[in-house]
Amino acid sequence: TQQQETLQQLLQQYRDLPGGLLPLLHAVQDALGHIPADAIPAIARAMNQSQAEVHGVIGFYHDFRTSPPAAHSLRLCRAEACQSMGSEALAAQLRAQLGVDDHGHTADGQLELRPVYCLGACACAPALQLDGQLHARVTPEKLSALLASCSK
Ligand code: FES
Repeated sequence: TQQQETLQQLLQQYRDLPGGLLPLLHAVQDALGHIPADAIPAIARAMNQSQAEVHGVIGFYHDFRTSPPAAHSLRLCRAEACQSMGSEALAAQLRAQLGVDDHGHTADGQLELRPVYCLGACACAPALQLDGQLHARVTPEKLSALLASCSK
């Protein structure tokens, strides 16, 4: 498949590079959108590391993912200004309504939640970004409306 071909090319490119594991993982994720779990044995072999070591590196960096990205990405600001204006309540609402926690995604793979520390909209807190678009002064009602727009 195209995915396997891309992976093979990247393994060739990085296998002899000292300290190449991290750049390789970034390159795989950039090319495929995630690091397929079934590619980890080949990655470990190419880089002369154990699979446990590769899993360790992937687990350490929250930006890496081993499953395809969700359809929608929600980044809720958890920094101070937003926190003092209710972002924790919004996080609780997401947990209650969707069962989704930081760094998690909904069971249907539609939405993933990432914490972010300041979106530069502190004056209009609490703020969030949905699929790259900034929303400010977010109330529970506004959040519900945004979520509804996602499931359309
Ligand atoms: Fe949330 Fe700055 S603290 S936007």
